[in-house]
Amino acid sequence: MYPDDQLEQARTRLRDFLVGRFGGPQRYIEQRGHPRLRMRHMPFPIDGRARDRWMELMTQALAGAEFPPAVADLMLRYFADTATFMINRAEA
Ligand code: HEM
Repeated sequence: MYPDDQLEQARTRLRDFLVGRFGGPQRYIEQRGHPRLRMRHMPFPIDGRARDRWMELMTQALAGAEFPPAVADLMLRYFADTATFMINRAEA
């Protein structure tokens, strides 16, 4: 779903967004403005399957980061809720 030639920028945008969301420097907002995440995801067909796959990959990435369990739990819950909110298509 991610355009191949923009993977690096996509990585940077997601990183900067999450850093800001969890209390760090607000680089994402400075560069991209208000997140409006649901609106920005509208061009991409996100159904329940895409959401579950995104969660699977982010869960693996989070495990690799080896945060203390309380931190990882908090982030996982935030990811799960936000990913559900991103669903913008019925199941194909
Ligand atoms: C549910 C499955 C999801 C899919 C399939 C998905 C897919 C995508 C795609 C294809 C892009 C475009 C690449 C880019 O411009 O960066 C994007 C952008 C982005 N996504 Fe997601 N996304 C999902 C969920 C989420 C969630 C849960 C978050 C936040 C917790 C998130 C945060 C972002 C951010 C910050 C951007 C950059 C927006 C911008 O500034 O243009 N995404 N996503």
